[in-house]
Amino acid sequence: MTEFRSNNSGPRVREIASVTNPLVKEIRALHMRKARAETGLFLAEGARTIAQALDYGFAPEMLAYRSDPAVAALCARAAAGGAQLLEVSDAVLEKISQRDNAQSAIGVFRQRLHRLADLDPNSAPLWLALEGVRDPGNLGTCIRTADATGAGGVILIGSTCDPFGIETVRATMGSIFAVPIYTAEPDEALAFVRGWSGVSVGTALQGAIDYREAVYAPPTLIVNGTEQSGLSDAMRDACGKLVKLPMRDGVESLNLSVAAGVMLYAVRERL
Ligand SMILES: C[S@@+](CC[C@H](N)C(=O)[O-])C[C@H]1O[C@@H](n2cnc3c(N)ncnc32)[C@H](O)[C@@H]1O
Repeated sequence: MTEFRSNNSGPRVREIASVTNPLVKEIRALHMRKARAETGLFLAEGARTIAQALDYGFAPEMLAYRSDPAVAALCARAAAGGAQLLEVSDAVLEKISQRDNAQSAIGVFRQRLHRLADLDPNSAPLWLALEGVRDPGNLGTCIRTADATGAGGVILIGSTCDPFGIETVRATMGSIFAVPIYTAEPDEALAFVRGWSGVSVGTALQGAIDYREAVYAPPTLIVNGTEQSGLSDAMRDACGKLVKLPMRDGVESLNLSVAAGVMLYAVRERL
């Protein structure tokens, strides 16, 4: 059952107790990439993450929350930003989050993606590009580490996992709202890397020099390859230099997000 509650001093609140409410179904559908692509919306959970979103100018379109004084201030901020408030039962929160012990609040946000044409390399000393990243945890961790190291943005090349999927968003721990995400087709990205005004560094296992021996200067663009096959041959050629993180004999490779994290910190220290 859905009810509306309002008074003169507070925002209009919609109360939803039933998991079969059609709006619950619509919000829940945002776990699917197809629904996110069709609506341009995505989910982010947790009072802290939603507060971060508001700090970065992302007001949720809807905020579903459990009645609790601890989220009152957050609800007021979200409502002031235009959010529809949905006061829901624990069962509804769990249904929406698809998790037992759901967080106290879940926001529905509008996606923001940027084009390479709008990227100014000189607006930040450090950038990260990922070719064909497939694993949502890897992508989320890369975005989070790019945020921590002050990178200007993360560039997603070609077909990748969805930066607005719930697993990726969870792994970013709020950084999805802080770090601009750019998307590019492979050919566009190759031309972009070839024309990069600063230092472009591909990370690769073969034909590369030790990352500690390379010279970096701002703006530096770090380019990582896919989890399965690594950097494409065309991207290897496009990068100004190739570096590797030395490993003990017999180790196949590092996890993508670990390699990206080491590189982000190493380059930042050397700029
Ligand atoms: C899991 S690795 C890919 C392994 C793949 N089998 C290959 O041959 O490249 C994913 C990405 O992480 C980065 N990476 C992993 N280990 C690395 C290392 N030791 N040195 C440099 N980059 C590394 C590279 O960008 C690589 O494309």
